Amino acid sequence: MTTDATGTTGGTTATDEAAAAATVTDRTVTDEAVASLAGTADPRLRELLAGLIRHVHAFARETRLTQQEWEKAVTFLTRTGQTCTGTRQEFILLSDVLGLSMLVETINGDRAAGATESTVLGPFHMTESPVRELGADIDLVGGGEPCVVGGRVLSRDGTPLPGAVIDVWQADGDGFYDVQRPDVQPPGNGRGLFTADADGRFRFRTCVPSPYPIPTDGPVGDLLRATGRHPYRPAHIHFIASAEGHVPVTTHIFVAGSEHLDSDAVFAVKPSLVQDFARTDDPSLAAEFGVANPFRYARFDLVLERS
Ligand code: BEZ
Ligand code: FE
Repeated sequence: MTTDATGTTGGTTATDEAAAAATVTDRTVTDEAVASLAGTADPRLRELLAGLIRHVHAFARETRLTQQEWEKAVTFLTRTGQTCTGTRQEFILLSDVLGLSMLVETINGDRAAGATESTVLGPFHMTESPVRELGADIDLVGGGEPCVVGGRVLSRDGTPLPGAVIDVWQADGDGFYDVQRPDVQPPGNGRGLFTADADGRFRFRTCVPSPYPIPTDGPVGDLLRATGRHPYRPAHIHFIASAEGHVPVTTHIFVAGSEHLDSDAVFAVKPSLVQDFARTDDPSLAAEFGVANPFRYARFDLVLERS
């Protein structure tokens, strides 16, 4: 190839060639990165990584991501990892506030009509719930508004599921989980593992949960502040219900009328999961449940799909 004094090569300038080369590199790095996965033995891993590369590259192109912004993102993710401990999962929290947890849950939690809908697991199901007798109080500290929660675990055709296991966890009346305040709450506070009786019934005592802020003292809190978002979740109790021959469900019940039902920081509210925690002073119910009047009573069934 010949180049004249003006830098023209066969009708194109050196500048044109440099621009074309840069553009080609910009285009082909994605294909090269995807092609580098050719030796991946697990086809699903290959599919996931190829999708990740394509989408992340498309994101960088679309937003014209700068070097400084890339470095900031790396620092943010590094801090997210460094904030994780045995009792804190900042990456799940990040996934939660970006709506990714709820999206994955929705893609995979497609339930047949009538089955209890699922929602996010959240980052606080990290210790084993203590086995408790039906009717036991999971509020080991007291001080909150007393409440009875109960119902049945049923198959979708209405058949009760005796022996179903119901794992429950909730924040205390101040909005903290036991693992967040080990100096104030004993381990297992707000948690219980119950086995449904011969009629599929379950029941426990607790305090009415309060809305609470997700942890904001780490990088996820910085993200919420930078985007002007509040950190609150509406009042709820977590459940995982499982029974032989059925698909387990990970879900919450939300307290009807709670603040933030329409702006959950992690997008996890589904209308079917909002339940009345009715105030009652019925003497026969109080005697049956062994609680003093008045108290709040939430009654609902957990309905599982056959596997
Ligand atoms: C929770 O409900 O425990 C929770 C869920 C997502 C993020 C933070 C907390
Ligand atoms: Fe929670």
